[in-house]
Amino acid sequence: MKRTHHCAQLTKTDLGATVSLAGWVDSIRDQGGIIFIDLRDRQGITQVKLEPDSNADVGARAAHLKPESVVGVAGRVTLRPAGTANPNLTTGEIEVDATALELYNLSDTPPFPLDDAAGDKVNEDLRLTYRYLDLRRPKMRRNLEVRHRATKSVRDYFDAEGFIEVETPILFKSTPEGAREYLVPSRIHPGEFYALSQSPQQFKQILMVAGVERYLQIARCFRDEDLRSDRQMEFTQIDVELSFVDREGIYALFEGMLKKVWRDILGVDLPTPFPRLAFQEAMNRFGVDKPDTRFGLELVDCTEVFRKSTFKVFASAAAGGGAVKALNAKGLADITQGELAGLEEVAKSLGAKGLAFIKVEGGEWKSPIVKFFSAAEKAELTRRLDPAEGDIIFFAAAPWEKTCAILGRIRLECAALLQKRGKLSLPANQWNFLWVIDFPLMTYDEESKRFVATHHPFTSPVPEDAGLLDTEPEKVRGQHYDVVLNGMELGGGSIRIHQPALQEKIFKDVLKIPADVVESRFGYLLRAFRYGAPPHGGIAFGLDRMVALLCGTTSIRDVIAFPKTQKAQDLMTQSPTPVTAKQLRDLHIQTVLPTTT
Ligand code: AMO
Ligand code: AMP
Repeated sequence: MKRTHHCAQLTKTDLGATVSLAGWVDSIRDQGGIIFIDLRDRQGITQVKLEPDSNADVGARAAHLKPESVVGVAGRVTLRPAGTANPNLTTGEIEVDATALELYNLSDTPPFPLDDAAGDKVNEDLRLTYRYLDLRRPKMRRNLEVRHRATKSVRDYFDAEGFIEVETPILFKSTPEGAREYLVPSRIHPGEFYALSQSPQQFKQILMVAGVERYLQIARCFRDEDLRSDRQMEFTQIDVELSFVDREGIYALFEGMLKKVWRDILGVDLPTPFPRLAFQEAMNRFGVDKPDTRFGLELVDCTEVFRKSTFKVFASAAAGGGAVKALNAKGLADITQGELAGLEEVAKSLGAKGLAFIKVEGGEWKSPIVKFFSAAEKAELTRRLDPAEGDIIFFAAAPWEKTCAILGRIRLECAALLQKRGKLSLPANQWNFLWVIDFPLMTYDEESKRFVATHHPFTSPVPEDAGLLDTEPEKVRGQHYDVVLNGMELGGGSIRIHQPALQEKIFKDVLKIPADVVESRFGYLLRAFRYGAPPHGGIAFGLDRMVALLCGTTSIRDVIAFPKTQKAQDLMTQSPTPVTAKQLRDLHIQTVLPTTT
């Protein structure tokens, strides 16, 4: 039986035609003497009518049918009787009157319902164990299609812009200064390891030295990180590098890419250029370097208000060079005790000593701390925070970064609580893209007591700041940029260092990496730079994150065909697994398992 049409194709114009269809049995309705099946394939559904009494062969096979069985049918396209048309289906006015039924395969009863509404409520572990069934759900199939079309849109864009796609190795060399890596033992070199590539960063820069000029790769990357809804151990980047470009050139190029993808997939015309926000301002106003700017609730600096306060908690934070910041969660004074305790937990998990607050209720400030405030302090708070009936104001006092981080999280938690109460709505189709720029090139790491690269050591300093590298490296801004959308970091990149002397200086003098380590880890890169490295820069976008946002889901697992769970397992294939002693022997590996208690 050769398929002539797909299941979303036949309409009234096909009446009388003899057709054959193939697909899965979506549902069966036995109406005594007549059996209707909704036959489903990738494109859609067609109703098929079986009359066992008038066709013994069809009848015998129909008796075995169960949902999700795979069948082929042949028959004539007929009009559905008046009043039985289904306006929700393209094929809703017709049905196929089957004269032959082929049973390709039966199906066991699926462990969960495959329609979207019911399927969404199913435990995700069960969905992942039977991922092939989960992927039959229309929503999941649509997600895979969106992923395909978005990837194609990106490839077409860069093709038209003169980029070529180059594959770089997945088996790379260990680069311990990045994220934690997956190591791969070498059989041929006992005791030596490859590492799975965390990103094609160094190869793409070397491709610039090779004169490729415009490189693209839809690149799989591997990082042994703790997994979250927006993080997988293997994920895909839209990875790009180009020569003879500055930051403005990069901004324009990628705004163009996002504009095309949003137009192709959603039919949305994104306004460009995207706003730009300096890191310092993003932290001060939103408490985070990837702000969700769809709502206000901005942080307000109150350090000066309390510098001379008798309230020691705040005054001492200010005196110690830290910051006191406040956030007016408008309309959230009806927060429950439980919710408030939850916020305190969150704040403490970020290192806060407490989460002071003022509720405005019955025209009064209700708060355990307000008794410590002078009239002048209260007046100044009123001026800065505009407290109104029904508001609650939260305070954090700590070193600057910590204060920002604490209230940045509290801001998001408050937004969620306000949403739950219907007091704040975040439209799904609001796309607040922005560039976050002017990050510090280096960040001081308290643990190792030295500077570490804020992003990676290949980022070039902002030219005006380069003179401070030796004296005040913490003040040097990097030519790094992040693309942020609605509170999610979609991509990041930088203009790179292309001068071997400057790159070597960063490694040795600023990052204090010993010379022999620099040579063994990065010698090849420095060598390459000595043979005519062009000025270059690039960026990498998280494809999974971008597609998740396009699909309106918050979990990248929903847009990856076979993702790992939060516990880093593939539940369908049951990996990871132990391996045989022989395999380990061949790889010169001995394992020492942790003792279980
Ligand atoms: P970075 O490490 O910022 O930059 O990664 C770029 C983008 O990749 C996505 N991403 C992830 N997505 C899912 N799961 C993960 N575990 C994960 N980690 C990162 C994010 C992120 O913005 N080589 C540099 C880029 C460059 O400088 O050109 C890099 O890899 O969306
Ligand atoms: P205490 O004087 O320690 O009892 O704190 C008084 C109030 O201030 C309590 O509500 C604490 O939760 C809060 N608090 C204490 N330390 C801080 C801090 N560093 N930032 C914000 N609030 C704090």
